[in-house]
Amino acid sequence: LAAAVQVSAAPPEPQAVETAVNAAYEKYRTLHEGKNADYIPALAQVDPELYGIALVTVDGKVYTAGDIRSEVSIQSISKVFTMAKVIEESGPQAIFNNPGVDATGQVFNSIVAIEQYKGAEMNAMVNPGAITATSMVGGTNYDEIWGRILDYYGEFAGRKLAVLEDVYQSEAATNQRNQAIGRLMYAYGRIKDNPDRATDIYTRQCAVGVNARDLATMAATLANGGRNPLTGRQVLKPDYVPEVLAVMATAGLYDDSGKWLYLTGLPAKSGVGGGILAVSPGKFGIAVISPPLDAAGNSVRAQKAIADISNALDGNPY
Ligand code: DON
Repeated sequence: LAAAVQVSAAPPEPQAVETAVNAAYEKYRTLHEGKNADYIPALAQVDPELYGIALVTVDGKVYTAGDIRSEVSIQSISKVFTMAKVIEESGPQAIFNNPGVDATGQVFNSIVAIEQYKGAEMNAMVNPGAITATSMVGGTNYDEIWGRILDYYGEFAGRKLAVLEDVYQSEAATNQRNQAIGRLMYAYGRIKDNPDRATDIYTRQCAVGVNARDLATMAATLANGGRNPLTGRQVLKPDYVPEVLAVMATAGLYDDSGKWLYLTGLPAKSGVGGGILAVSPGKFGIAVISPPLDAAGNSVRAQKAIADISNALDGNPY
């Protein structure tokens, strides 16, 4: 499927991309809707004005507007790449079986969603499924597992990434709910061992610092059949890309995933740090960072800017 998508699609024309990116940047620069996440104290401190757009095509062209240097924490966007790591290591069936690939219909850190099916019928884009996916990454100890995850994110971004230590400390001190989620998934046998270690590594992965260009490159790698268009490295087998995109389409924007897919057709993933990335298969990856979020936990400006740009460039694959 990935190969078929690639031959039938082509990257957009440079002039059209520049026009669309600049127009969306200007249109939403003065929009002040939404609010930074504050349940992780460090996120409330991030400048709400930070706003950057990046689009990377499958043939390696990079287009940007606004602030593409400042880093925010990747947060839930990390879930895509840890799931991809598990699929790369263990095959797509592993994720299909556990945590599953179905929408929960509940918020991203819902305990009701776990109880409903005793930890089954879950997906790797919500916290219980994501902590489970982290627990499935190969490695014999904390450092080895963590090293594999961080290196893998760096392969997608095309540069070595690092943790924003203040964000990690802030979330680690306040993530009792995620600790409970990890233990509950362990109690139901979905996490096999060391639930506290899995939750801590998950917390660290959420604190990885990224800018808009990093996120767009990560998305472009998925758009390009798993090959990073800037480094030329094959990061994920092309055969496994459709499975990753399917889970993103199902649950990437949580409760609003259906609305998002209806409006754009793009598999995407948001994070409470304010980033959203989206994938137009065979064409481009795009990302926007802007910390203020709507009620569902998705960046307001990022949703609007990505939808405008993608729709202007025929990004919708359907
Ligand atoms: O586990 C958490 O709550 C955060 N580290 C990540 C949540 C998140 O990004 C949800 N996104 N919209």
